[in-house]
Amino acid sequence: MRVASQYLRAAVVCLAALPLTTACGSGIVASREAASGAELYQSCESCHGPAGGGDLVQHAPAIAGLPAWYVASQLERFQTGLRGKHPDDVEGLRMRPMSLQVNSQTQRETVAAYVASLPSAANAPRLKDVDLTRGEETFAMCVACHGMKGEGTEALNAPPLAGLDDWYVALQLRKFRSGIRGSVPGDGIGPTMAAMSMAVPPEVIEDVAAYVHTLPR
Ligand code: HEC
Ligand code: HEC
Repeated sequence: MRVASQYLRAAVVCLAALPLTTACGSGIVASREAASGAELYQSCESCHGPAGGGDLVQHAPAIAGLPAWYVASQLERFQTGLRGKHPDDVEGLRMRPMSLQVNSQTQRETVAAYVASLPSAANAPRLKDVDLTRGEETFAMCVACHGMKGEGTEALNAPPLAGLDDWYVALQLRKFRSGIRGSVPGDGIGPTMAAMSMAVPPEVIEDVAAYVHTLPR
């Protein structure tokens, strides 16, 4: 395990520094391709935590237990710049270079399966002075895609919302509303949500974010 992780770290440095030069033998690249999800996840721990519980200081959300399809798709979206490239997207710009640590489909799917396997646990609520009743009423607009229980609908590319960090949901709704997320031309997925976000008035954002946080994961 220790040997494997040292090897992995060497590969990470190597890939970051000189992607395609002879200094980085194809053997090392191949070993990263064969790395386990736990090994690949080591490069995520500093922000998302060893158990995937997230880190409020870094504004990195809890990701443990998110479905593999969604994690893999978002990693690809960060990589291709469909997400996290807007100059005002402070948190996305932090995440985007990290997505390049898992830049093949195999690596994305491997680390996504690992994230999905981590037991999900909702963090304590952070938003204050919220109106959960108003949040629940607003959530009626979301169920068509995100499901009655906020469980998500893969066929619509709509992720689960249940139990997500309340501060994170509010932040994302503001990003969608202001065009920081979901506004890249040619994106077939983000604009759907960006349009929906316009139906949530700013003063209700925290209510609905707090409400979805209360839904069991
Ligand atoms: C330097 C800190 C940092 C590291 C390291 C990092 N992330 Fe992130 N990650 C973030 C931040 C910040 C966000 C929130 C981005 C936003 O607000 O749009 C994020 C968002 C995400 C999301 C989107 C969650 C959602 O609900 O849409 C996924 C998935 C993710 N990260 C996976 C990973 C994986 C897998 C790794 C390791 C390969 C990783 N991250 C490494 C900071 C980091
Ligand atoms: C028409 C379908 C649709 C409806 C209705 C909808 N959404 Fe979404 N939502 C999506 C899709 C698709 C995504 C994925 C966007 C992406 O990958 O960039 C998404 C993503 C999100 C995210 C980002 C989650 C994350 O982990 O980063 C949040 C938060 C969200 N929606 C909240 C809501 C709320 C709250 C409502 C109701 C007010 C709502 N959505 C209604 C389709 C929808």
